[in-house]
Amino acid sequence: MEPAQLDRTPFADLDRIPPHMLALIVGALEAMSRHPEIQRVRHTAWQALRPAPGQRLLDAGCGAGDVARELAAAVAPGGEIVALDYSTATLAAARERHTGGAIRYVTGDVAALDFDDETFDGVWCERVLQHVDDADAAIGELVRVTRTGGRICLLDTDWSSLAFDGVDGALAGTVVGHMHGRLTPKQLDMGRTLRRRLLDRGLHDVTATPVTCFFGDPASAAVVLPMVNPEVPEEAWPTPPGLRDQWLGQVGTAGDRGDFLAVLTIWVATATVQRPAMH
Ligand SMILES: C[S@@+](CC[C@H](N)C(=O)[O-])C[C@H]1O[C@@H](n2cnc3c(N)ncnc32)[C@H](O)[C@@H]1O
Repeated sequence: MEPAQLDRTPFADLDRIPPHMLALIVGALEAMSRHPEIQRVRHTAWQALRPAPGQRLLDAGCGAGDVARELAAAVAPGGEIVALDYSTATLAAARERHTGGAIRYVTGDVAALDFDDETFDGVWCERVLQHVDDADAAIGELVRVTRTGGRICLLDTDWSSLAFDGVDGALAGTVVGHMHGRLTPKQLDMGRTLRRRLLDRGLHDVTATPVTCFFGDPASAAVVLPMVNPEVPEEAWPTPPGLRDQWLGQVGTAGDRGDFLAVLTIWVATATVQRPAMH
């Protein structure tokens, strides 16, 4: 049986974690948004979604709202972004960061959306599906609320692609294995399954692009990879005694030598919504 959502990922319900952890997570989301490799992933998605003035788009699982704000600029004039998240605390953080675009902030569950059919011209859903109980139900909802001819854009991580160099291989294997043990199968491979999930829905123009993020030093990696970040509290990344210190020591040494390397693939999958003609 899969562990309860909150046990395997704080992102399943950010309202139930302590405020100091939430602040760390919101800060981490913002730092990720500024990271050139995450920007490269988003650029790929942006090219696929092609946001345009006048459109109404949904950012499903918007987090601190970084993408929603950029989308709002792209759909102006006349467009609107609905920035939806499960977590009211995260939405509050997004609202605080609002810079004036046409964004409506809405609490909601991506797997049970409170919108009419065909409300949106397109949907952006980034690094959310790995955290929800039923990703296919959520994709079904995203399709339902997108108009015929509209675009769906899903971004998600393939944690099983994570690999290191410059550190002891066996130790890296232990750390990665430990992380794998804490994640469910769908968290490990959500990214690569997105294409199949969209095809299963009968959508058109399905594309899937793996973007392999490269981290050439520990500081760069720490922004995206919690297991490389000494600032991530023990409670957020519990490890067997001694493993964390030994690993972070190795990471630091590799960084000092200049040969630390980490890679992680994030997938961008897109499709056009088509519906059978009614007779
Ligand atoms: C890793 S964060 C990604 C946030 C944002 N998309 C980004 O890329 O910066 C995952 C987000 O999904 C939200 N989330 C998790 N489960 C959700 C659900 N069932 N419905 C809506 N949002 C959800 C979390 O609250 C969190 O803000």
